[in-house]
Amino acid sequence: MTQDELKALVGQAALPYVVPGELVGVGTGSTVNHFIDALAAIKTTIRGAVSSSVKSTERLLAHGIPVFDAADVTRLAVYVDGADEIDHHGFMIKGGGAALTREKIVADLAERFVCIADESKRVAVLGAFPLPVEVIAMAASQISRHFEKLGGTATLRPGVITDNGHPILDVRGLQITDPLAMEAEINQWPGVVSVGLFARHRASLCLLGTAQGVQTLVF
Ligand code: A5P
Repeated sequence: MTQDELKALVGQAALPYVVPGELVGVGTGSTVNHFIDALAAIKTTIRGAVSSSVKSTERLLAHGIPVFDAADVTRLAVYVDGADEIDHHGFMIKGGGAALTREKIVADLAERFVCIADESKRVAVLGAFPLPVEVIAMAASQISRHFEKLGGTATLRPGVITDNGHPILDVRGLQITDPLAMEAEINQWPGVVSVGLFARHRASLCLLGTAQGVQTLVF
């Protein structure tokens, strides 16, 4: 199976986790696009979705799925999203699509985070994928210097401004052996809007697309 076929497989496999009559939290990315397309088939059974990006909102609306503002929602049963890397504890790197801040906000509303990913995303230690960090522009250089002290090299992602109007730093060279501690540390630095390390908001379970089918990893 191709990587895209594996993404389609897990997008479909997430449907049973969607709770009838409720809102579902929807992430961003090529895997989630497959989930949104699958969701269209059961759209009459749900109230609608809370979206984590302009792109996902557009796709949901194009399918006729009502989109609700996260600000008007107090709780979601489930949030479904992809990952750039996921480890054996369910800790993730996210933000390859620059939607990390809104993804974390919607994930924070949810009781369960269902990660959908192809098997290439599974890693022993997070950090081979550059860690995305959304920052206030005037703090980018100082934040880059903080990362140097952690052994990382930060570069601005060329030509990218998030849905919130901020640049993204991509940080290479980190070996993230303690994701909870690193996330807490980075969150202390002035000018960090959010870091694409999902440790406090790790996956509850992962539907992993493999050549043998969908594996369910529970964390
Ligand atoms: C978007 O900002 C990201 O967090 C995505 O969820 C992540 O990059 C996975 O994307 P793909 O499903 O496209 O691999």
